[in-house]
Amino acid sequence: MSILFSPLAVGPKTARNRLWVSPMCQYSAIDGMPQEWHHVHLAQFASGGAGIVMTEATAVSPEGRISPDDTGMWSDAHRDAWAPIVAAVRARGALAGIQLAHAGRKASTSSPLNGQRGSVPREHGGWQTVAPSAIPFEGLATPVALDHDGIDRVVEDFAAAARRAVEVGFDVVEVHAAHGYLLHEFLSPLSNHRDDEYGGSLENRARLVLRIVSAVRRAAPDLALLVRFSAYDWADGGFTPDETATVATWAAERGADLFDISSGGLVAHQRLKTGPGYQVPFAAHVRRTAGVPVSAVGMIDDAAQAEAILEAGDADAIMAGREWLRDPHYALRASIELGVDIDYWPAQYLRARPARVRAA
Ligand SMILES: Cc1cc2nc3c(=O)[nH]c(=O)nc-3n(C[C@H](O)[C@H](O)[C@H](O)COP(=O)(O)O)c2cc1C
Repeated sequence: MSILFSPLAVGPKTARNRLWVSPMCQYSAIDGMPQEWHHVHLAQFASGGAGIVMTEATAVSPEGRISPDDTGMWSDAHRDAWAPIVAAVRARGALAGIQLAHAGRKASTSSPLNGQRGSVPREHGGWQTVAPSAIPFEGLATPVALDHDGIDRVVEDFAAAARRAVEVGFDVVEVHAAHGYLLHEFLSPLSNHRDDEYGGSLENRARLVLRIVSAVRRAAPDLALLVRFSAYDWADGGFTPDETATVATWAAERGADLFDISSGGLVAHQRLKTGPGYQVPFAAHVRRTAGVPVSAVGMIDDAAQAEAILEAGDADAIMAGREWLRDPHYALRASIELGVDIDYWPAQYLRARPARVRAA
């Protein structure tokens, strides 16, 4: 029996398996609108057997975009543009997920597809960034510290985007609180130097993300609610795995169903050590310490490795990014490698399913 290919209930939804598509920016939107590229890109993973197909970081407001070419969900027109994509993913048996995001001080940066780096100047369509404190990410423009009205607006923007996600039929909403974007900037003492109720103690640094989890839960009571955290900043004085476990406990009390455990992205001087499964220990720590469901992500590129992580009890599910780009049918291939006969091969592709799997 394969754990990877057993279904997993995530709050009110059930994923058909535990091999999911991690959010990946495509830098191919126009005014926040997903395009034909996004449709083909996301639908192919559902044909390829994914349990959940997650969109890229999708901005809850125009100023929350990482680059001018990111997708958004800040208007009903954006919601309607997502409709055919959601339908295509769901028609292929996967749960459709949307990662909702605000890029904070790392917003308004050049798309890597342009071959440029750094902040986009105003005259080329850039905008003023915001953050918990007016401390820039090394090499980027200096943000403005959010005031209380600004913080309230961010909460409302997440809630409104979640409401649109419900209206258009998404099954899963993920709050992006990782990779050095706005919510992670509030969580980490390296980027949050506030002296009001949003800074200082862990309770204060977590206040914004917890308000957002509560607001999204209210707006989307019947969706699976995930939160992505960077459990470690890979730098002295940053956010820690223990703090992540504590915040995950608080977020679970407010209705979050599963935690997607990543790391890094907050500071340019991070000392990241990558390798196969390099973030799995963080996921395992949060799962064991907080007693909450987690997914693991980061260089989990083959079926046996994914199965072993689940078997060890280090995670409840696997998110993969780049392996899906190398092989959009990663789950079909993984099922062959594990000898599991899944019943969601696209009928059009059945002649590619090996006989030994069918017989198993
Ligand atoms: C092209 C690309 C775009 C990405 N965009 C996002 C994103 O929008 N949101 C996010 O949380 N992570 C993003 N990531 C990180 C991935 O979701 C994933 O966590 C990371 O690539 C490690 O997993 P992997 O080794 O399976 O690729 C991106 C990664 C890649 C390669």
